This record gives sequence, C-alpha cells and structure tokens, in this order.
Amino acid sequence: MQNNVLILDFGSQYTQLIARRVRELNIFCEIKPYNKLPDDLTEYKAVILSGSPHSVRAEDAPHPDLSNIKGKKPLLGVCYGAQYLAHFNGGKVEKSNTREYGRAKLAKLYEQDPFLRHIEVGSQVWMSHADTIKNLPEKSILLASTHDVENAAFKFIGEDTYGIQFHPEVYHSTDGKQILENFLVHIAKVAQTWTPAAFVETTVAELKAKIGDEKVILGLSGGVDSSVAAVLLNKAIGDNLHCIFVNNGLLRKNEFDDVLHQYKDMGLNVKGVDASARFLDALEGESDPEKKRKTIGRVFIEVFDDEAHKVENAKWLAQGTIYPDVIESVSATGGPSATIKSHHNVGGLPDFMKLKVVEPLKMLFKDEVRRVGKSMGLEPNLLGRHPFPGPGLAIRILGDITREKVAILQEVDHIFIQGLKDWGLYDQIWQAGAMLLPVNSVGVMGDERTYEKCVALRAVESTDGMTADWVNLPYEFLQKTSNDIINKVPGINRVVYDISSKPPATIEWE
Ligand code: XMP
Repeated sequence: MQNNVLILDFGSQYTQLIARRVRELNIFCEIKPYNKLPDDLTEYKAVILSGSPHSVRAEDAPHPDLSNIKGKKPLLGVCYGAQYLAHFNGGKVEKSNTREYGRAKLAKLYEQDPFLRHIEVGSQVWMSHADTIKNLPEKSILLASTHDVENAAFKFIGEDTYGIQFHPEVYHSTDGKQILENFLVHIAKVAQTWTPAAFVETTVAELKAKIGDEKVILGLSGGVDSSVAAVLLNKAIGDNLHCIFVNNGLLRKNEFDDVLHQYKDMGLNVKGVDASARFLDALEGESDPEKKRKTIGRVFIEVFDDEAHKVENAKWLAQGTIYPDVIESVSATGGPSATIKSHHNVGGLPDFMKLKVVEPLKMLFKDEVRRVGKSMGLEPNLLGRHPFPGPGLAIRILGDITREKVAILQEVDHIFIQGLKDWGLYDQIWQAGAMLLPVNSVGVMGDERTYEKCVALRAVESTDGMTADWVNLPYEFLQKTSNDIINKVPGINRVVYDISSKPPATIEWE
C-alpha cells in the first residue's frame, strides 16, 4: 500500500479516532502498538504519535526509539506524543497545576507555517491531559497557545516534526481535521487516493491474484459486513464464491426469506439452509445466557461444517472481519479486558476444516464498509441495517426459549421496527429491538382480566456499541407502537421502554 500513514499507539482512548479522521481525508493509515514499531518504514509517508494515559516522566511509560523517524519523515506528536518529543529533546514536561480538560480556544498564533493553514485565533480545540510542556524542546519554535496552555503547538526547526498538546481527532476540535490535512497533505505531501472505488479496484485485483480459480466459502449473516465481503469476492471470483446463509430460527420475522431473495437477486451464489429445528431443539430448556450463546455457536459450526463439506475442493474460508476486530491496541491498564458477554460471531472456523482464511474488509472501519458497499451498488436497506446479534432473538427472550415465544417476539419486533421505518426514525438509530420478559402481569381487555407477558422496547444511539445511550423516541410513536403491539400480538398485555444507558446497562438484556 503506497501513501500509507503510520499511527503509533501509546494506549490512548482516541487512537482509533485519529485513524478514522485520517481515512476521512481519503488517506490510508494503519495503527501499530508503540512496542511493535515495524523495522521497515519505507511504505510510510508520515507518522503520528497518539496520546496516552501514561506520564512521559514515568519510567514504565512507553519510550520507543524514534531515531529512524524523527527528522527523517514527517512526524506529528499528539498530546502524549508531543510531550514525548519535548521530554526526550531537551524540553521540560511537568505535572500540570491547572485543570486542562475539555474545550479551549487558540488564543495566539505565532508563525506563518503550513501547519496553521486556515487556522485562526479563536478556533476551538479539545484538551485532555494531566502533564504539560513547561519548556519547549531544543531547536523548536512555538506555533500556538491557548489561554491556559502556553505550548499548545510547536515545530522543530528544519524538520517536518510537529507537536500539539490538544487532540485534533476529537470532533470538539473544530479545526482538527484541517490540522491533520495541513500536516498530511500540505507538509507530508501524502496523496488523497484512498477512496471506496480505489479500494474496490485494488482489492478485487488482489483477491483474483491470491485465490486464482480456487473455491471460497463464506457464511452470510444478513449483516453489512458479510454482505459487502460477499459482493467484493463475487466481483473477483464469481461463482467460485459459495455463500451459506443459515436460518437458526432466531432471526427477525421474514428475515431469512427476504434476505435470501435479495442475495440471489444480487447475483450471489448462495445456499439458504433452514436449520431452525436443529437450533431450537438444542436450546430446549436452556435459560442461562452464556449457555445459550455456546449452544448456538456449537450448532452453527456443525451446520456450517456440514454444508461446507458439500462444496467439493473448497480451499478458502472468507470472513467479514473489520478493522476494529483486528487492531492490536495497547491496553491502558496492562491487563486483558474482562469478558462481559462471550460474543459469538457467525463464521467461526473449526480447526479441522484446514481452510485458508481470506478477510477482504479487515483494514476497514464500519463506515468505510458502508461506503465501499454503496460504491458497489448495494441496496440502502442492506447497508443501513441495524446490527443484530449472532444468537439473534435467543438473547432477547429472557429465560428459556420456546417456538411460541420466538413467534411472539418476532411479531412484536416487526411492529416496532416497521414503525420506526414508517416514522422515518430507523436511520437515526444505531440499534433497536424488543425483549420478551419472563414476567406475567395482570391486565384487563374488554371485561376480562388477563395475565400475560410483558415486552421491553430498546432503541439506542452509539458509534461502536461500546457505549450507548437510549433514544428519546417521540411519545406519539411510543403510544401508537404500544397500542399496536397489545392489540395485535396475543399473549402480550404490557409494553415498557428501556431508558438505561450503556454503561452501566448493556444493549442486550442477556
Ligand atoms: P451489549 O449487549 O454487550 O451489546 O451491550 C453490544 C453489541 O453487541 C451485540 N451483541 C452480540 N453480537 N453475538 C453477537 O454477534 C453476541 O453474543 C452478542 N451479544 C451482544 C449487541 O447486539 C450490540 O450490537
């Protein structure tokens, strides 16, 4: 990959955001942990050092050797990155004695430098740091200050090396993207050639060269990632791509038939496998969420493996893995993060299948997957689909699962989701769904007392599912949806709306 930018990660919560901002400039970039600095840097046209929760003054802080980079390639240090450049080049970094977190405004600009192109006094930037650069490094000049932070931006004389105390990657830094553009395009001269069309062209050529006329198997889930991966592979190798779409009996109402038809209309070589009975039988009597997930994962692999074996001479397994799944990030705490839920993703590879793995989307962020899909003409309804968990409705039916409960929840979910679409709300929401609760409550319908089930509706906004907030749906919408559900779905006499954020709640109830 030419015109590549290297982002060296020191463990900041914002490192992925830097990469996304760079990609928004149509520039390709990769994140590497600071302790895995590649030996060969020839392909990188510029390097960005991320922030970090560490203090550069601590002995156990990240202190990589940058002698192959500084002064040799355009280099930008952000926050910790800037402090690092200062600390090891004769400057002075100290604990800050004023609060330096949140919005700030650039108060003084000192030089006419391409780094400050189109940046003006008053521009808003985002600060988040405990240490501050007291004295600039040797052979450097000051470029900008805020009211509270004197050394907010600086440059090494005679080098394309810059440091900024604030975070250009955060949206609150209103000119952050401009600063990244100034550095990457106007100083480092990186070409802005990373477009969806260019990605499709090079990826299809690479896939052709890599796979030749061998056969590839891909598990489709109905989601955006596997669908875009399938279309890319189909462009490269046509019917040698064998897609398998499994109905686990826990999909949304009509989803299996609708999506299968759509895949066929798109020209994909796809086989629909209705294994509902196998999944539902295996789940009988199981009410523990983690055991449900494990059972579904196991049965999926069995079904998928049976089908995959029917494709003679298959050599490859394709997966819709995306970049956030593979970025090696530096853990801020040094330890592995706790498993809150064991997420089962469609397409796990049983060892004995011994297939080679191909992952055409593994360098893309989710929004880029959508843009690539759009450039290849995928329908908006496939691209804009909300995320849906692999175990499907199984983890939205609290307690044990029966066919009757699945049918009830499918109806409720359908009314809710269709309502969101009809009211023009669907596309503003990251994910929505309904949960069937294991409680009965008393109601009255006509003159009769009822004792029936309750459903909870959930709609959240989020960017990556890691944090989420409930959506303030219009009362009129909730009123109509609740009426429709209670009137049309036998067995339900109560509807509630979930107003919990994540954290501390999670998006799914199980
Ligand atoms: P939670 O409930 O952990 O959900 O806040 C975050 C996102 O992950 C999805 N999710 C799953 N996806 N297998 C999946 O493929 C799972 O077991 C699973 N559990 C949760 C959830 O729908 C949300 O998008």
